[in-house]
Amino acid sequence: MKRITIIRPDDWHLHLRDGEHLRAVLPDSARRFARAIVMPNLKPPVTTTELALQYRERILAALPALARFEPLMTLYLTDSTQPGEIATARSSGRVHAIKYYPAGATTHSDAGVTDLRKCHRVFEAMEESRMPLLVHGEVTDPAVDVFDREKAFIERSLAPLVERFAGLRVVMEHITTREAAEFVASAPPRVAATITAHHLLLNRNALFTGGIRPHHYCVPVLKREEHRQALIRAAVSGSPKFFLGTDSAPHARHTKETDCGCAGIYTAHAGIELYAEAFAAAGALEKLENFASRHGAEFYGLPVNRDTVTLVEETWRVPHQVAFGADALVPLRAGGSVAWKLV
Ligand code: DOR
Ligand code: ZN
Repeated sequence: MKRITIIRPDDWHLHLRDGEHLRAVLPDSARRFARAIVMPNLKPPVTTTELALQYRERILAALPALARFEPLMTLYLTDSTQPGEIATARSSGRVHAIKYYPAGATTHSDAGVTDLRKCHRVFEAMEESRMPLLVHGEVTDPAVDVFDREKAFIERSLAPLVERFAGLRVVMEHITTREAAEFVASAPPRVAATITAHHLLLNRNALFTGGIRPHHYCVPVLKREEHRQALIRAAVSGSPKFFLGTDSAPHARHTKETDCGCAGIYTAHAGIELYAEAFAAAGALEKLENFASRHGAEFYGLPVNRDTVTLVEETWRVPHQVAFGADALVPLRAGGSVAWKLV
């Protein structure tokens, strides 16, 4: 049986939700990861340091007894975010990044930015305080094909932004295309990317295997196999620009199995195990530790964790659904299995 021990990983992109939903999903992440960058797309969004600190307290209060897990908070950028908020966020020591959602791009993004020019003074403040900008990298232009929206975003928005703000640290979140992997790889060191396990494991065929598969629907949507291959190459490349971000995004079963279903794949129940599968399949398990446990911490200027986790190559069954407060949640591989197990 294969076995691997790595420094405890961190999740650099996670949706924890709130209330009973937070209490339902948090133990899965806390069992595997030491820290997580927590997305601010609540309703209403987490737009200020004060709201982020309150949300942080709710997360800590929802942790299982004895669990050690540090939520790294983010703010939701809007058209009216004030430049002064960045210094407040930085001096709190709890807020580690600002999240940019193009208005309308995804779940709870209606309060997002309508025009990047409205944020130029905020970006200058972020350059000054070395506060990373986390980017949902898709255009919302309905004239652009859904599968091309990431590529168009790089050309129209991201490349000009990186060039104009020469001190801005940027993480392109959940990259899904060869173009994104290449853009990040050739950008300056201040530009990095997270990669999800589901984009490493699935291509867009998974949306339609035997019928339509709402639990494989996320944004940015799964892409062609050639793009999945490019993401694998980036993840196992050893480049410090690429690191783990699950984008685990729980939605109640009935909100995905409906005529206009929500985007988001829940992977926190196997948050490190699924990456082990992807890296093992690529013959690159020895590259997992840096990707999962070092590169992100280094980018964010945080210490690497001191403890370790051990994974064994042993199959376990994933339940058909799990409780999600009063609702149910369908995790990735529901009714199927995962090939690696946390010891
Ligand atoms: O699939 C997604 N779900 N993509 C996102 O960007 C947001 C997320 C969510 O919050 O459900
Ligand atoms: Zn996300």
